[in-house]
Amino acid sequence: MSKNMSSIAVIGMQWGDEGKGKVIDLLSENAQHIARAQGGNNAGHTIVAEGKEFRFHLVPSGILYPHTKCYIGGGTVIDPASLLAEIEGLKKHGVPNVKRLYISPYAHIVFPYHKLIDQLSEKQKGGSAVGTTGKGIGPCYTDKVSRCGIRLADMLNPEIFRVKLQAAVLQKNRELEKLYNHPPLEWESIYKTYSDFALELASHVAPVEELLYQAAKRGEKILFEGAQGALLDITFGTYPFVTSSCTLSGGIAAGLGLGPTKIEHTIGVTKVYTTRVGNGPMPTELNGDELSRFPDHSASREVGTTTGRKRRIGWFDAFLLRHTLCLNGADSLALTKLDILDDLDEIKICTGYKKCKTFPATLEELQHAQPIYEVHPGWKKSTRDVKIYDDLPHNARAYIRRIEELCEVPVSLISVGPEREKTLWLDRFFNE
Ligand code: IMP
Repeated sequence: MSKNMSSIAVIGMQWGDEGKGKVIDLLSENAQHIARAQGGNNAGHTIVAEGKEFRFHLVPSGILYPHTKCYIGGGTVIDPASLLAEIEGLKKHGVPNVKRLYISPYAHIVFPYHKLIDQLSEKQKGGSAVGTTGKGIGPCYTDKVSRCGIRLADMLNPEIFRVKLQAAVLQKNRELEKLYNHPPLEWESIYKTYSDFALELASHVAPVEELLYQAAKRGEKILFEGAQGALLDITFGTYPFVTSSCTLSGGIAAGLGLGPTKIEHTIGVTKVYTTRVGNGPMPTELNGDELSRFPDHSASREVGTTTGRKRRIGWFDAFLLRHTLCLNGADSLALTKLDILDDLDEIKICTGYKKCKTFPATLEELQHAQPIYEVHPGWKKSTRDVKIYDDLPHNARAYIRRIEELCEVPVSLISVGPEREKTLWLDRFFNE
């Protein structure tokens, strides 16, 4: 593997929350360009730098390194109020030259009616709700695909924006009143608020596609920041319990308007166990005694950054990983949260599902999937202060090697705590 590669994509291999934020933060230090391709403020991670806590939803966290240029691609959906609050927070904390954030005019805008419809439709679905973040992501992508969405480019032109918004609100009000018995919205107040947002965002708007193409041609170091995880992908995820964008490595190229050959290496990020927020099947989910023996949600830090929801927890699922590694063509694995397993007597790995040759395509099959487990002895020793791989307890190394063997992909990085220094590198990326 070339260690001097110039472009790396970091992608989640499970249902999101794999710890991509930390891997991205580590790699950002030596990257020149950092780009986000899809999703919106449904994503979230927290970075602690120089004693200050920063919460990121859409802005690449690499903006904290003053030498970087950061990009929000045309495949994303932008809630301007949330994005401007993020930008404001960065300025307030003294992050230099926030103008280094470039936003594609092709990105679609999340409006108040998107959020409303997201929340109302979830409520109406009752027991079959997706468990969305309620940020309007699905309805915004719905409008994009239905060819009635409004893009940042449109919002920058007052006349075009007025015509498009008026038509959109008229249509949405029909939906709100007829389907949800909700009072209509007034387009004028949305127009005023969002016109102000447009003015504030205007200085960040740039031809992201062209800038990244030129950077790639010059061989500069680019980090592509995936959001959510492979099994939340709109096509190959556990549909319909998915998000509304392509969360795979292929989505990076599509969402940034960049040729796929410009991604040299894909790092698949996975926890050494499994988590999921929201609804939908999860074959290795822990219940009862097994769950009570697992570190609780606060000890395992398994509470969501965006919604504050407790995550569901399960054993590592190698069958699932083999599937998502295939969907992403991932070249190496970053294993996160090894330290959370430190105190367990025994740890299970799912190696397959009974009677399934390939990962099930339907919810019904996945709901009834019966995991086949192998049981590994725990290491019962803290790994939090370990600095190099060879110093890990024997059973921890055996566990990692088994994951590598089952997934048929080398492990390039292991995380043993949230801090930057709690990282064991098996391979150094972006070396000078
Ligand atoms: P939406 O993206 O808000 O429409 O939510 C759809 C599904 O994706 C729900 O199950 C959410 O919990 C999940 N989801 C969306 N973004 C993230 C994320 O960044 N991490 C984990 N789950 C997410």
